[in-house]
Amino acid sequence: MNIIHISAECYPIAKVGGLADVVGALPKYQNSSSIRSQVIMPFYDNAFTKANSFSPLQHSSVILGDKTYPFRILVLDEKPLDFDVFFIDIPDLLFKDYVYSASDTERFLAFQIATLDWLLTWETYPDIIHCHDHHTGLIPFMLQESYKYEAFRKIPNILTIHNAQYQGWFSHDKVGLIPPFNFDHVGLLDWGGNINPLAAAIKCAWSVTTVSPSYMEELKQAANGLEHLLSTEHEKCTGILNGIDNAVWNPETDHYLLKNYSLKTVASGAKANKKHLCKSFNLDPKKPLFAFIGRLVYEKGSDIFPEVFKQALEENDISILLLGSGNPDTEAQLEALKPLFEGKFNAHIGYDEQLSHVVYAGADFLLMPSRVEPCGLNQMYALRYGTIPIVRSIGGLKDTVTDIEQEKGFGICHQNVTVTEITEAIKRGVVLYKSQPKYKAIQKQIMEIDHSWDVSANDYINLYNSIKTK
Ligand code: ADP
Ligand code: GLC
Repeated sequence: MNIIHISAECYPIAKVGGLADVVGALPKYQNSSSIRSQVIMPFYDNAFTKANSFSPLQHSSVILGDKTYPFRILVLDEKPLDFDVFFIDIPDLLFKDYVYSASDTERFLAFQIATLDWLLTWETYPDIIHCHDHHTGLIPFMLQESYKYEAFRKIPNILTIHNAQYQGWFSHDKVGLIPPFNFDHVGLLDWGGNINPLAAAIKCAWSVTTVSPSYMEELKQAANGLEHLLSTEHEKCTGILNGIDNAVWNPETDHYLLKNYSLKTVASGAKANKKHLCKSFNLDPKKPLFAFIGRLVYEKGSDIFPEVFKQALEENDISILLLGSGNPDTEAQLEALKPLFEGKFNAHIGYDEQLSHVVYAGADFLLMPSRVEPCGLNQMYALRYGTIPIVRSIGGLKDTVTDIEQEKGFGICHQNVTVTEITEAIKRGVVLYKSQPKYKAIQKQIMEIDHSWDVSANDYINLYNSIKTK
């Protein structure tokens, strides 16, 4: 079986968030003697593309309305990855030092058309086309409706929704950018009076998945306007929990860590990383360290972080460290908090892959008070590194973290995203930390939980097989 994943992100090539981690791991776990899983993604101007050399496989051009853009298919000269990646290089549109911007309609539409145009030139077409998020959402529509891609009508395609908050909608004025299709079916593109790529994909894909079972259920109630559509299409929708790449996220071998450790040596290993972290950020290593890593957006609950941190630091003898960027107001408020709680609170505003690994290893607790969390990978990384997650029970967090008060529980869960409930959860963390034998037992328990892709990669293969025989 030949599977093609089409995505805007893929670790370690271009990463904004968890989408990259998923697309950078799932193909690796799918590849086997009978399965070939490959990725097609845009070619960006970033650290990875600067550090590697590429060769062209093909030169062509893509038509977008009345404009024509030259493009190339590039491949890596050396193969540092465990799966093939094909890059769509459209210098005038995609080759930027960012992945997303405010005006992405043309960029990602051109990416999708160029991808399908190139696939048309293949001698043997893929068996499965797997699209990820709205940046690839018009592909299921084009496969089904565009005259140009009639040859692809029988190729099963699936859409994975990593986050339904982002839908990529644009005005019907731009419908001419989409290759000609049966205009009687233009309604398939529409949702709420706009062209909505995510909605179009939900309507046209053979199967739709989300990245955790709970998120799938939640989307039927609230999906940023798509709830009714998801309820109507529920028969082809399933939730498959994301996994993690155990080779990248392994405290025994992680080259980003200052000291590697195993289940047996977690106490001293995690402590060494914590010591280093605390030294770098002027925090006291003797106090319990609560950390947050992620995008500073409303969905992650970050708008109330300044208030939460202030209250938690006033009421408890703890340290808090944040690694993230996003909303400028939140960033400014967090910066302003630093001098008020010197030696107790610190933040690195920005993106830093290496630092994130050290934080997973060195923190005692990881905070994830998300309002919406389709899956969340951070809590799974934390578990693997022996750091106890404190989460709001929602989406994938609900599916992966059980409260210590429950049987075999190992995390701290709260129900609502309020200053009071998050501070209360932090207090429960402080109590747990004081009881070191219990804390250490849980630390060992969580490091043994297996969240690798093994199971879910197979769930996807089963799903492909079931739609292939439809
Ligand atoms: P989302 O995709 O919604 O941002 P996930 O939990 O699925 O959330 O994945 C986030 C990924 O991005 C994780 O690999 C996390 O470590 C990483 N990450 C997020 N923010 C940062 C940051 N500021 N620096 C380094 N890594 C980050
Ligand atoms: C999205 C979601 C996150 C999920 C990730 C990977 O960015 O916000 O919860 O883990 O995709 O699927």
